[in-house]
Amino acid sequence: MDPSGFTYSVNTRKIFAVAPMMDWTDRHCRYFHRLLTKHALLYTEMVVADALIYGDVPRHLEFNEAEHPLALQLGGSDPDKLQQAAKLAEQWGYDEVNLNVGCPSDRVQSGTFGACLMRQPELVAECVHQISKSVQIPVTVKCRIGVDEQEPNVSLFELATGVLDAGCNALWVHARKAWLQGLSPKENRDIPPLDYDIVQQLKNTYPDRFIGINGGIKSIDQAAGFVSTGLNIPLDGVMVGRAAYQNPSILRHVDSAIYGDDTTSVELDDICSAMMDYSSRHLEQEGRVHHITRHMIGLFQGQPGARRYRQILSVEAARPHADQRIIRQAFESVKKYGEVAELAG
Ligand SMILES: Cc1cc2nc3c(=O)[nH]c(=O)nc-3n(C[C@H](O)[C@H](O)[C@H](O)COP(=O)(O)O)c2cc1C
Repeated sequence: MDPSGFTYSVNTRKIFAVAPMMDWTDRHCRYFHRLLTKHALLYTEMVVADALIYGDVPRHLEFNEAEHPLALQLGGSDPDKLQQAAKLAEQWGYDEVNLNVGCPSDRVQSGTFGACLMRQPELVAECVHQISKSVQIPVTVKCRIGVDEQEPNVSLFELATGVLDAGCNALWVHARKAWLQGLSPKENRDIPPLDYDIVQQLKNTYPDRFIGINGGIKSIDQAAGFVSTGLNIPLDGVMVGRAAYQNPSILRHVDSAIYGDDTTSVELDDICSAMMDYSSRHLEQEGRVHHITRHMIGLFQGQPGARRYRQILSVEAARPHADQRIIRQAFESVKKYGEVAELAG
């Protein structure tokens, strides 16, 4: 499989990304998101390097060609293992390999990767260096601004300097600390305060390097504000996680608002048919329709009929014999509330 020719460019083409999210951004979710935006960069869930080296590679790496541009996020801190995993990513046709330096979960801490690596910027730089030597696709990092008692204006800049010198093509910054003691992973996405200014300061320090921002961004208008060319030194990219997953219809504004492309048309009937076809192929491979529909339940958030739509896709689609027709039924239930139901956003 060939990568799609995706590249990062600084100060010219802005990038909108849907964040990597464990258990959420699996391949079915990404296929669905791709119907809503042609251009957004999509991320996999984090895959630990060991899982690729010792585990079932196709299970972790298979994806649909429609998902491009697509980045594989890796977890780990052993430069050799990460190098092997990155080579696999390239062979399988991913457009980018990204290293997770932001995830605070216990499981991840015990394996010395994720956010605790903010304390080991030299090791992270070494990982990036080894990966960059072995693949042609962009190598990127997603980090926090610091952990626990660290001073972000030291920890973020040390991490950034190390990885950018080591060949990192883009640094995505989740603009809050991770508190490694006492907060659950979920709390760590809400409680440590957001500090967008420090990410802007980082971009001012590295005007010629790709710096993207993430954390707490709720709408495409807000996202566009970060990369607006009206700013003195705009950021290069904006990454949205929960808002995109929970309210996916916002993604249909990405192509025009971020990429200046007004040609993407997102018709409800087309989404419905495409997801039915996709689900029917999944069912032929012994999959369940619920694996797919669980990612679609937020599509009509706030719309009349959304409750029934959600109920059909979450409850009825989970029944043993449910098939792709359940998707049509769910869409019909929304349509009946308007002449033609509009997507919110
Ligand atoms: C369910 C869930 C799973 C996540 N899994 C990952 C992950 O695998 N790798 C990662 O770097 N970040 C992960 N994150 C963090 C997001 O990528 C993102 O940084 C965070 O949610 C803040 O962005 P948001 O406010 O736009 O959601 C996860 C977030 C959620 C909600």
